[in-house]
Amino acid sequence: MHFVWYILKIYFKLAKAKRNRYDHKKNKAIKMEINKIYNENCIETMAKMPDKFIDLVVTSPPYNMRTRIRNGKYTTREKSEHFSKKYKYFEDALPINDFYEFHTNVLSELLRVSKIVCYNFQIVTGSKEAFFKIIGDFSKDIKDIIIWDKGSGQPAMHGMVLNSCYEIILILEDDKKAGRAIQNAKFERGKMNNILRIGRGKKVSNIHGAIFPEQLPFELIKSFSEKEALIFDPFMGSGTTALAAIKLGRNYIGSEITKEYCKIAENRIRECGGLFLN
Ligand SMILES: C[S@@+](CC[C@H](N)C(=O)[O-])C[C@H]1O[C@@H](n2cnc3c(N)ncnc32)[C@H](O)[C@@H]1O
Repeated sequence: MHFVWYILKIYFKLAKAKRNRYDHKKNKAIKMEINKIYNENCIETMAKMPDKFIDLVVTSPPYNMRTRIRNGKYTTREKSEHFSKKYKYFEDALPINDFYEFHTNVLSELLRVSKIVCYNFQIVTGSKEAFFKIIGDFSKDIKDIIIWDKGSGQPAMHGMVLNSCYEIILILEDDKKAGRAIQNAKFERGKMNNILRIGRGKKVSNIHGAIFPEQLPFELIKSFSEKEALIFDPFMGSGTTALAAIKLGRNYIGSEITKEYCKIAENRIRECGGLFLN
């Protein structure tokens, strides 16, 4: 009887190891811990990853909110009460060419390490020119665009400027296949729209004001990955992508350059206690 039990135990262990793509040995070989947020520049985190290590990227990079235009020239806006509230510990004010170069590098690396990339951004003065160029540069890799319809927008800060009620999510894959079919998608035909109507996220912290509503990464992770997949957010902020991944039974890795934001993310993950929803 004992012998049968022993054999069964070995059998279940082997079956589990086969199912689990992130087994201990593999992780040791590539020196990356999963289900962890790395407090560093995402470029450093990605440099440790082999090609296609990640199943899906869901992220929202900084939008360069404090780069403005004055007298026809790009300049940096003084830190005001409003903007210190948005990012107490992050400057968010690169010169437009540096912003363009940074995102070009990040997107190129993301396409190397991941099968699908969902890259969410908002058109603001400091991002518009760079992102429109990026859409041209990456046109072959962009499979589609999802519009995140937030329902309403704050009144614009100046005349002649539209109120901003939506954000853009680029869906990219580097499989070199023409057309709109997302080769690694997991949703059934007719089940995923290219508009997501989701209101703004609830306030989570006084020091980070640019946070995903949890439903947004939730919908993307559900439609573009399977259980036990590895989800990466290179701009993890307060940890919303990790929370959605945990709740959907996926693994996560994150990078977040600001120590204080890593702490918020760690607390949120601890409080959620790894509750699985499906
Ligand atoms: C728009 S926020 C992301 C918010 C996140 N989606 C959430 O729900 O909390 C962008 C984040 O990127 C971080 N960040 C900026 N540059 C970074 C870099 N080079 N590497 C890693 N994180 C960076 C900022 O500190 C900020 O928290």
